[in-house]
Amino acid sequence: MPPASPIATIRAAHTTDLPAITAIYAHHVLHGCASFEIDPPSTEDMTRRMDALRARDYPYLVAEQDGALIGYAYAGPYHPRVAYRDTVEDSIYLAPEAAGRGVGTALLGALIAECTARGYRQMMALVGDSANTPSIRLHQRHGFRTVGTLQSVGYKHGRWLDVVLLQRALGSGDRTPPRQALNPKDPDMPRPPPATATLPGLDLQSCMRDRVLGPGAMLLAGRARATATELVALIEAIARSAPFRRMSTPGGRMMSVAMTNCGALGWVSDSRGYRYMSRDPLTDLPWPAIPAAFASLAGQAAAEAGYPDFMPDACLINRYEPGTRLTLHQDRNEHDFSQPIVSVSLGLPARFLWGGLARTDPVQRIPLDHGDIAVWGGATRLAHHGIHPLAEGTNALTGRTRLNLTFRRAA
Ligand code: SIN
Ligand code: FE2
Repeated sequence: MPPASPIATIRAAHTTDLPAITAIYAHHVLHGCASFEIDPPSTEDMTRRMDALRARDYPYLVAEQDGALIGYAYAGPYHPRVAYRDTVEDSIYLAPEAAGRGVGTALLGALIAECTARGYRQMMALVGDSANTPSIRLHQRHGFRTVGTLQSVGYKHGRWLDVVLLQRALGSGDRTPPRQALNPKDPDMPRPPPATATLPGLDLQSCMRDRVLGPGAMLLAGRARATATELVALIEAIARSAPFRRMSTPGGRMMSVAMTNCGALGWVSDSRGYRYMSRDPLTDLPWPAIPAAFASLAGQAAAEAGYPDFMPDACLINRYEPGTRLTLHQDRNEHDFSQPIVSVSLGLPARFLWGGLARTDPVQRIPLDHGDIAVWGGATRLAHHGIHPLAEGTNALTGRTRLNLTFRRAA
């Protein structure tokens, strides 16, 4: 199955987009309650607003289809006082004909990724009008929680309007101190470029499929697409010295998925159990090292999902052919369950079985496409997961196979 058909292209806004942005916004100001402005601002006003945001490196994105601008989204400061400097507020407006087509989801997914990459820690949404369920649901789908309702704080179109306040954490949220601004006292100073300034793999088009899988767990769609060719070549090189092999379970069943490893430790299974070994039992040589391109991708994905400083020492490489599967299991042979799992999908699409902490918990089937990265940790670190039997297909890069890299901190 090809990836979801591109409904729109998401890209950074240019000043040439301002007339279209001004027109979309004017429609909402005149006819809607999401904006509490009453008089539509001019293109010059909108230009000043965009310039002010971009001077401080806040992301400003547009959705475009067939050359027409059909929506835009930006993040700005939630509040001007300095201590709020790590918190942003999002704004999303769609052309009326673009509503209900996933454009808002795409824009919000991309905006969250851009803000996370810049090191912001909380995103607030102030949704005008508690009857605006499409906007509230859009935010909930992206992991926002309603934290309050300000009652009747606006009056427009002849009625009192509530504001619904929603919030979600970005990156490591409040679990680590913020990154330092150049001048921490001055929120107007641009920040130093973050470690992951623009995620090289950040795929604005795919971000629409991003989703929160559970507490501490995220699907980061398409993040490995940009480097996939290199990743597959590196896997082939690894497999030349540590060949793919089918391992058997401690109970004596042969696993259908072929596996190999790179890293200081490699995961193995045989009659003696599941464990990590520093040498490949086939060759008695140390496993090949984790290539730098693997480590940086895993680190960036972990950081985007809220786990900064993830440094994998083990990378299990799985190779699936149509019909092969991985039954529901937990990853529990690692020492430190505070470290996440980062799982990169390449080649043929699959359905990820995503269950709960108990084996009998309901299991969702999440589509995983070429380039998708799933990250889980925290409260879902020991969630049961697996891969549904792979459907027949061919992929331009990997042929009749799906490759998966599972990064872990094992020691
Ligand atoms: C795993 O559970 O180790 C791999 C899952 C996958 O192939 O996506
Ligand atoms: Fe696993």
